[in-house]
Amino acid sequence: MLVHIKEIVKHAQANNYAVGAFNIHNLESVLGVANAAMKAKSAAIIQVSEGAIKYMGLKPITHIVSTVAKNIATNVPIALHLDHGKDLTNLFECIKQGFSSVHIDASHLPLDENISVTKQVVALAHGKDVWVQGEVGAMIGGHGNINGTIENIPIADPGEVITFVNETKVDTIAAAIGTAHGVYDNEDIKIDLLKEIIDNTKIPFVLHGGSGVADKIIANSIKEGVDIINIGSDIKIAFTDTIKKSCRENPDETDPRNLLRPTIKAVEEVVIKSMKLFGSAGQIKFKDIET
Ligand code: G3H
Ligand code: ZN
Repeated sequence: MLVHIKEIVKHAQANNYAVGAFNIHNLESVLGVANAAMKAKSAAIIQVSEGAIKYMGLKPITHIVSTVAKNIATNVPIALHLDHGKDLTNLFECIKQGFSSVHIDASHLPLDENISVTKQVVALAHGKDVWVQGEVGAMIGGHGNINGTIENIPIADPGEVITFVNETKVDTIAAAIGTAHGVYDNEDIKIDLLKEIIDNTKIPFVLHGGSGVADKIIANSIKEGVDIINIGSDIKIAFTDTIKKSCRENPDETDPRNLLRPTIKAVEEVVIKSMKLFGSAGQIKFKDIET
């Protein structure tokens, strides 16, 4: 079922688990996340990047996610979120289309400019009951990168993060705390920094760059209060590895569905693994929802 993100985050906070925000790229990946949510009895945030919007079109994406949420993920809550929105026209259009949450990523700008751009989005979004995620300390790397190690992972200044949250009134906060976009051997989470941010902002914390971070580091960060964990690269890699294998093994196949079907399962498996790690698996009791 399609719900507002706040319902999902409130349930996660009340039950001490984190919810996954999964980047999707096409119908098959949306189906993979929805199937995973149903099988794992877990809520999920389905998030789209500006790249995914450029690829599929905003209206098709919005309709695909909402119809899959309503008709496939019938018993579990699914929320639709814009990830790393940089273009204000895009952001405002997502709000208009019914997203319940948008990420304004102006983290590349100096703090005062980041605050001012974010405030504009908050003013419009809150008028329409849409949550806003803000970001301080730009993430590096690239979704889908698998490069071994990555140099100079930036770390946000906690004072800046606290000022940003107080001034912008964002609903959720993302900050660079040691992870990167992509899968790298040296990703880490600065737990003291995370605690300082959570203790002083008291709003849900979003961990970006979830792929490639060791399981025990993720588990520890959830114990310390991370509420949402973004997973992008793991899904891209599972999808592309599977489609390449499918084509290699069936060079004469002419029905695209036969080549694509295994990708749905591959995405589903990666997502279920994350849901188990994040503690969201098993948290949605189907009986409770029906009553
Ligand atoms: O915004 C999306 C994420 O932060 C995904 O990061 O590709 O490392 O999983 P990832
Ligand atoms: Zn990110």
